[in-house]
Amino acid sequence: MPLFKLSISTFGLEAGGAASDLLTELAEPRALAVTLFEDGPASFLIEAYYETEPSLEAAADALSALRAGLGEAMLEAVPEQNWVALSQAALPPIAAGRFVVHGGHDRARVGARRIAIEIEAGEAFGTGHNATTALCLEAIDRLTRHRCFARVVDLGCGTGVLAIAAARVLPGARVLAVDNDPLATAIARTNARLNGVGRHVRVIDASGFAHPLLRPPRAFDLVLANLLPGPLVELAPAMRRALRPGGVAVLSGVLDHQAREVGASYCAAGFRLLARSRRAGWTVLTLVRVTPHSTRHSWPERTCAACARKLLKPLAALGYTVDIKPPAPPTSQLSFWLRQGVGFRDDGWA
Ligand SMILES: C[S@@+](CC[C@H](N)C(=O)[O-])C[C@H]1O[C@@H](n2cnc3c(N)ncnc32)[C@H](O)[C@@H]1O
Repeated sequence: MPLFKLSISTFGLEAGGAASDLLTELAEPRALAVTLFEDGPASFLIEAYYETEPSLEAAADALSALRAGLGEAMLEAVPEQNWVALSQAALPPIAAGRFVVHGGHDRARVGARRIAIEIEAGEAFGTGHNATTALCLEAIDRLTRHRCFARVVDLGCGTGVLAIAAARVLPGARVLAVDNDPLATAIARTNARLNGVGRHVRVIDASGFAHPLLRPPRAFDLVLANLLPGPLVELAPAMRRALRPGGVAVLSGVLDHQAREVGASYCAAGFRLLARSRRAGWTVLTLVRVTPHSTRHSWPERTCAACARKLLKPLAALGYTVDIKPPAPPTSQLSFWLRQGVGFRDDGWA
């Protein structure tokens, strides 16, 4: 029995995501599977598969609100004998930095020049096809070229792909892979063994840093967190406690327009931005935990707080945090504290 494939190209990730959500939720025709792929700069392809021939009109009606961002819908019959090959072709090997992530069906196809990571994803997230994962793999590649990290956490490990990548390029490191979904941790354990790093990657079931192995005094050198902006912002203080000074956090799962808020909350928590990379609407932030260096200064007599604030404003643009303290009797002098390295600057992204 053939399957039917409906293909629509979209411009922009937002339109693509909205259209694939609508097709997934549509009761009639009911899709067996809906996939969204990036097939060029800012261009995405949605493919929806059906058991019985769907009505193009019903699909077009459902998508009518998004018409401006969508191309023409195309319907074709997919012969049954090609279904497995097609689904595998839809997940070709993905190269990111020194890594290539592939499924078991492509084991023989991956070249020897890259570090191959075999992932059986099942229902877990993390095949490398999503830009949020690929950007993290590239960040791991860059960070580990000139620096060693002994203790690594992959927070929200999904398939375990980032933990496995870290273990492969940091042979002496101890890597903790954490997820709050038991299905994901089971898959991550299997994948770690499959890739020969089962002894270096310990997979634990936990939400955020809520596990004895993740709490202080344990201090980590590198945390990889491909989550959503909400949990990332919430976890900023815990992330600071978990990392040693100079430790690095790689934050992913953030849309371009959300990066400023996430970056600002980490800088306020004691991080400085090292690098930012973007792809397909997604941003990855690489931040270093700094130890704020504070200095206390006194102001000449009779300066009001409002004037002081105005005079000190340019310092904020240079990355300083300024705390003005009211005069404390018996002195009538204003004092202010300058803290270096914790101001979030959208212009510099230093
Ligand atoms: C986007 S996936 C990332 C998977 C993989 N690390 C990657 O980069 O492809 C996010 C994963 O984080 C897990 N997750 C979400 N919130 C979490 C939390 N607060 N603590 C632990 N895991 C969490 C989800 O279950 C999911 O498996």
